[in-house]
Amino acid sequence: MKRLGILTRDCAGVNAAIRAVVRVASFYNIEVVGIFRGYEGLINGEIKVLTRRSVSGIINLGGTILKTSRCLRFFKEEGQQEAVRTIKENNIEGLITIGGNGTLTGAHILATKYKIPTIGVPATIDNDVNGVELTIGADTAVNVALDALDKIRDTATSLERIFIVEVMGRDCGYIALHLALAGGCEEVIIPERDFDITRMCEEITEGNIRGKVSWIIIVAEGKAKAAFIARKITEITGLETRVVVLGHIQRGGRPTSVDRILAAKMGSFAVELLKRGETDKCVGIKNGKLFAFPLEEAIKPKKIEVESYYRLIKILT
Ligand code: F6P
Repeated sequence: MKRLGILTRDCAGVNAAIRAVVRVASFYNIEVVGIFRGYEGLINGEIKVLTRRSVSGIINLGGTILKTSRCLRFFKEEGQQEAVRTIKENNIEGLITIGGNGTLTGAHILATKYKIPTIGVPATIDNDVNGVELTIGADTAVNVALDALDKIRDTATSLERIFIVEVMGRDCGYIALHLALAGGCEEVIIPERDFDITRMCEEITEGNIRGKVSWIIIVAEGKAKAAFIARKITEITGLETRVVVLGHIQRGGRPTSVDRILAAKMGSFAVELLKRGETDKCVGIKNGKLFAFPLEEAIKPKKIEVESYYRLIKILT
C-alpha cells in the first residue's frame, strides 16, 4: 500500500488519532492524504497530503484539523459514486474513517458496496458504538461536563437550589450516567431507563421536609428537555428550579490522557489492519486490548448495562 486517506468527525482526541495514523503510515513509507469536511470533502475532492511535520503540535487540540460536516449527500447513490471517483482519481488505496455511527456506516458502505479497503475508528462523545468499551472523545466529554458541574454545585449549594443539567446523548445515557456518578448527583434521567416524575418529586418533597435543599439532576437530551423537567418539579413541589444546558462545550476541550492514548493505539492499529489487507472492520478495545471486528456489528445499536450505575448513584446520595 502506497497511499491511504483519512476522514473524520469531531471530538476531543481525533487530532491525536490523525497524528498517530500519519506517523505510523510514514514509518511504513505510506503516504496519507487528509480528506476535509468528512464525506462532503470526499465527494468534492477536498484532499491534501499530510506529512509527519504537518501533524506536529496537534496532539493536545480538541476538534479535528480536517474539519467535518454532516453529509446527507453521501447516503444517496450519486454522492457515493462521486466519493468513489475521488478515491480512484487520487490513487487512495485504503481509507481510515474516524467517527461515530454515521461515519462508520459510511465506511461499511464503501467497503462492501464499492470494495474500497476501509477501516473505522470509533470516536464519539456518546460512547455508543456497539462492541467497543470506550470510544475516543467520551472520557474528555465526561470530564468537561464534570468541570462545569462542579461549578454549578458551588452555586447550587450556596443558594440551596435545585438544578437540572442537560447533557448530550441522543440515544445513549453514557455521559449522563458517568457525570451523575462522578459528580455526586441525586438523580439521572437517561434514554435507556423509564423515569417517573411523580416519584422523583415525592423524593424531593420528602427530602425537603428532612431539610435537604439542594439537588442536582442530570438529564440526557435524548430522554427529556431540562426545561420540561424543571417546570414539572416546580409545578408539583412548589420549589424553585434552575436549568443549565451544557450543549456543545461537551464536544470540545483538550483531550484527556485517556483519549490521547486511546487515539494513539486505535489510530496506529487501523494502519496495521489496512496494511495487513483487512477491510470492513472497526477497531475495538476491551480490557485494554485492541481487536478488529466487522463494521456491520459496530453500527448496530449498543446496549449498556445501566442498572448497577443507577443503583449506586441512588445509594451514594
Ligand atoms: O453524536 C454526537 C453528538 O454530540 C450527540 O451527543 C448530539 O446529540 C449530536 O452529536 C449533536 O449534533 P450536532 O452537533 O449536529 O447538533
